[in-house]
Amino acid sequence: MRKAIYPGSFDPFTNGHLDIVRRALRVVDHLTIAVLRNTSKRYLLSPEERVELIREVFQHEENIEVMTFEGLLAEFCRQRDTKLVIRGLRAVSDFDYEHAIFLMNSKLLEGLETIFLMSSSEHSFISSSIVKEVSSLGGVVDDQVPPPVARKLRQLHKERSGA
Ligand code: PNS
Repeated sequence: MRKAIYPGSFDPFTNGHLDIVRRALRVVDHLTIAVLRNTSKRYLLSPEERVELIREVFQHEENIEVMTFEGLLAEFCRQRDTKLVIRGLRAVSDFDYEHAIFLMNSKLLEGLETIFLMSSSEHSFISSSIVKEVSSLGGVVDDQVPPPVARKLRQLHKERSGA
């Protein structure tokens, strides 16, 4: 069975991420969506909330598991006995960062491979940061995130604006 890890912050998980998951499952049999737990960074959603929302998106799908990871991705891959990572590339602007991560990860764990999937045209403009900003200002992002995420963002905006 070919398995891979799809790591990210997923703050929040978007339709761009969903597209990458769907397409990754054409080349692997099992995907672990690994949500970064980074205590030194400020997130909109806690790691638990991010995991819960992604699990809701993929409920009933047995070939997808969702969990958090902390520390080095290469170490997480080693612990999980998985040497294949999936990453999405939206545009050339993503390339330098992804290339640096790829080189570092290959150094940290010999044989670790990364498959880069290009975002499809309708998803290449979607960004978690922009989705966060727009939704926090009351903008509608329902066409850019899966329904559970859209509900959560609406609820957060309501709570924070006192509406
Ligand atoms: O969705 P993101 O924020 O672009 O994901 C970045 C991620 C989580 C893949 C990357 O930051 C990561 O792997 N962090 C774990 C720490 C690590 O392994 N660092 C070395 C490679 S940069």
